Amino acid sequence: MSSPPWWQRGTVYQVYPRSFADGDGDGVGDLRGLRTHLDHLSALHVQAVWLSPVFPSPMADFGYDVADYCDVDPLFGTLDELDGLIADCHGRGIRVLLDWVPNHSSDRHPWFLASRSSRADPRRDWYVWRDGAPDGGPPNDWRSEFAAVGPAWTHDEATGQWYLHSYTPQQPDLNWENPDVEAAMYDVVRFWFDRGVDGLRVDALQRLGKDPLLRANAGSDRRHDQDWEPVAHERLRRIRRVADEYPDRVLVGEVYLLDQRRVVDYLAGGDQLHMAHNFVFLHLPWDAAAFRRVVEEFEDLAEPDAWPAWFLGNHDHSRIATRYDDGRGSGPARARAAALLLTALRGTPFLYQGDELGLPDAEIPPDRVVDVDGRDPERAPLPWRPPSVAGPGAGFTTGTPWLPLVRDAEELCAERQAADPASTLSLVRRLGALRAGSETLQSGDQRFLDAGPDVLAWLRTGGSGRLLAAVNLASGPRGLQLRGLPDAEASVLLSTDPAAGAPGRVSLSELVLRPDEAVLLQLAGTAQDS
Ligand code: NOJ
Repeated sequence: MSSPPWWQRGTVYQVYPRSFADGDGDGVGDLRGLRTHLDHLSALHVQAVWLSPVFPSPMADFGYDVADYCDVDPLFGTLDELDGLIADCHGRGIRVLLDWVPNHSSDRHPWFLASRSSRADPRRDWYVWRDGAPDGGPPNDWRSEFAAVGPAWTHDEATGQWYLHSYTPQQPDLNWENPDVEAAMYDVVRFWFDRGVDGLRVDALQRLGKDPLLRANAGSDRRHDQDWEPVAHERLRRIRRVADEYPDRVLVGEVYLLDQRRVVDYLAGGDQLHMAHNFVFLHLPWDAAAFRRVVEEFEDLAEPDAWPAWFLGNHDHSRIATRYDDGRGSGPARARAAALLLTALRGTPFLYQGDELGLPDAEIPPDRVVDVDGRDPERAPLPWRPPSVAGPGAGFTTGTPWLPLVRDAEELCAERQAADPASTLSLVRRLGALRAGSETLQSGDQRFLDAGPDVLAWLRTGGSGRLLAAVNLASGPRGLQLRGLPDAEASVLLSTDPAAGAPGRVSLSELVLRPDEAVLLQLAGTAQDS
């Protein structure tokens, strides 16, 4: 087997910089803090780190409102520090992805300030301006992605027209129909690739293609405000051509569409995305048949060379340990099983900071709410050290954290978990090491097996290994009832259940999985590659 490209080999770890580590005591995470914790990333064996936006921003959407695409916000540090971080990461064999936000800028970006200054300004057409409807309301029925915002249009008194914003009014949509906008955004891509950045996560990619006629959504069987063909794909192909001016770079799209047919379209032809975040997967219930159906559907729909990117958490969604909790405390076990699931599926696993600690959502009292769309709980700062030792900032900050930390920081913090071989952190580190050393996991074939109700089981073959992964999604024990695989001896490489004891040899027909336990087995007669 030939060695896969770097972005297929192992985990991409998402850092939400505001909440990772604070190096200057102002309560907000920054690049200095991040640079002091790179050992944490190395110990997880991650291939790459993706940083949510660190660019100058008024922070109306915590960095997803960019006021300068080619600099670093002083809250996070300086461009020099970002260069230093990239060099540090590269020195450890870790690639760096930045978050590129092409659909919209901040309303404080000089481009928008010029655009809104007058109808005659040369940059007027860099954003989407329209007259209101005859009844005096917004130009059409498009709504903001954020329910609390309402219409996707804001009236601007100064020039008497409305501007489009798919998110908050502080995030006006750029007009990608204008070739000058496209060219300016390509320059941003080149700016970062010239600095040695290895890839970009493309924010809200589905929004780059809109009906140029701005027709209403109502009464139509398709959305006009996103995923508009063919412009969405033509635009993406041109972006890919810019990325391909550089060797070995990668584009990961946030393609927030809940239909896999539409998602795989953005991976087609080998000239669009390298990977697409798949939100169909993220929205699945804790159900074996549902996971199998979605993975198999992806494999059926996508071209053979299309590469999956599996993830179950990011800064916009309730955390795995909370979302999958059945109300009886199953969340932590399910978060551990989810980590194995992501590591052992064919595709690149994406891991959101804190999921390696099995963090739940934090409780946010009403007077501490800061996000317009209810996403504060999953953005709580990481607890690094026990508050009993490091103070209430739990090693995240010496100041007042911008959001409250999780309640169990004492037990869940990284320092405690690193010292405990049975912890979630220790498990996720072992998973990272296994993936890093296994050609079979990185690029082997994949086949699901019928394993009885509630059990998701799949084979990975290739390289010098034959691995079987199994996840019990039931709240009771389940034996493996494998069809299509003769009974065999297997070695348990790893179990997600802290009570499982030392790995050892088992006969497949006798293996009983505990509730929410996942295992990775090496089938007899094959050697796990180094
Ligand atoms: C997706 C980002 O992940 C989210 O945090 C942000 O609010 C929107 N895009 C708008 O940029």
